[in-house]
Amino acid sequence: MTNKGFILWFTGLSGAGKTTISQALEPQLRAKGCKVEILDGDIVRTHLSKGLTFSKEDRDTNIRRIGFVAHLLSRNGVVAITAAISPYKALRDEIRAMEPNFVEIYIKASLETCESRDVKGLYAKARAGEIKGFTGIDDPYEEPTNPEIICYTAEETVDESVVKIITKLEELGYI
Ligand code: ADX
Repeated sequence: MTNKGFILWFTGLSGAGKTTISQALEPQLRAKGCKVEILDGDIVRTHLSKGLTFSKEDRDTNIRRIGFVAHLLSRNGVVAITAAISPYKALRDEIRAMEPNFVEIYIKASLETCESRDVKGLYAKARAGEIKGFTGIDDPYEEPTNPEIICYTAEETVDESVVKIITKLEELGYI
């Protein structure tokens, strides 16, 4: 069977676990014969979206670019995993509307959890007013209302989240 392409759209606060879970998922999908590409927010912003700010307008541009590239990959049989905060529901829904094979995964952790992890030290900077417009602090994060999958990363291990995703993709007939 040839695997079909699709978009796995991760969304969630900074520090929720998008990058970690996407990286753990990648080899599992490859083992099942999928071609996989990860479009990670932090990496995209050093190349495809270099120079964009975190204003709403620039975030929207960032998400549209990621969605566009993910769509090109997906239609060529690749599993395109995106791992950007993608805080605005309307933009996520815009990508969903253009992509027939779209799976939204909410990587869910409370602000308190993400802030206590503070992997990059950015929440502390945002609280100190050194970064303005930080998602969850003084910029909105609009939760998905109907994601295909939710990973609760304060309660599940990375492996449990990966198994949950793989199981759902099998149920949906993607893999
Ligand atoms: S998105 O809003 O456009 O989807 P994206 O995922 O590309 O965001 O980038 C988020 C990453 O940029 C965060 O994980 C963090 O490392 C960094 N960052 C820097 N400034 C901000 C900010 N104001 N809000 C959120 N993340 C920021």
